[in-house]
Amino acid sequence: MTRRLGFNVDHVATLRQARRACYPDPLAAALIAELAGAAQITCHVRGDRRHVQDRDLERLRDSVQTLLNVEMAPTSEMRQIAVRVRPHRVTLVPEREGEVTTEGGLDVAGQRAVVADFAAALREAGVRVSLFVDPVPGQVEACRMEGVDMLELNTDRYAVQGGPAEIRRLVEAARLAASLGLEVAAGHGLNHHNLPDLVAAVPSVVEYNIGHSIVARAVFVGLERAVRDILAILEQAG
Ligand code: PXP
Repeated sequence: MTRRLGFNVDHVATLRQARRACYPDPLAAALIAELAGAAQITCHVRGDRRHVQDRDLERLRDSVQTLLNVEMAPTSEMRQIAVRVRPHRVTLVPEREGEVTTEGGLDVAGQRAVVADFAAALREAGVRVSLFVDPVPGQVEACRMEGVDMLELNTDRYAVQGGPAEIRRLVEAARLAASLGLEVAAGHGLNHHNLPDLVAAVPSVVEYNIGHSIVARAVFVGLERAVRDILAILEQAG
């Protein structure tokens, strides 16, 4: 089975914003990643704009040749941006002010009406909608709603703790999502060490969104090679 790699460019922008410089350019990184075989470019527009800026989003939308997947919180500001920019897909994620990175999945079960309303507006604008959720049956089931045809499983706990129990949770959540007719992606904290076991164990995941570890590896081996190295893991798993 072919699994897609979504390369997350946030940390290229993080490096740029550390000096408020004009480099490195996340768009340049996106184009190199596409040439190396990434099937999608992912970025997260945060309320505090700590890395990806509005202008980056527009440049990515105009120049990405594969698919542009934009992570955002379900706020009214983000809704306006999504409807105006119209990326191929929006993945709704939770956001807490001051967090270092996304801390967990979206509580879809606890705010179904808000999420459904957001999803309907995006679908109307021609934008596909995915929901980032923890591998918990109640959250996966809550994702079955009009306008949503995909979810992304949060792999953070697996990435931090590892182990068969976390893999089992992901396997079961992916199976449940697939049985509900939802396409399944996964991501957060994945790297060259923890990815092989996961890919081998969870065949129904069709897309992996990976950022930090690829950008970190690129510092030493270059971006093209870092992307190719991750793709080799996705391909080897069969
Ligand atoms: N998927 C989602 C929904 C995320 O929020 C993030 C982090 O922005 C990622 C994937 C990528 O995580 P990482 O940078 O740890 O690979």
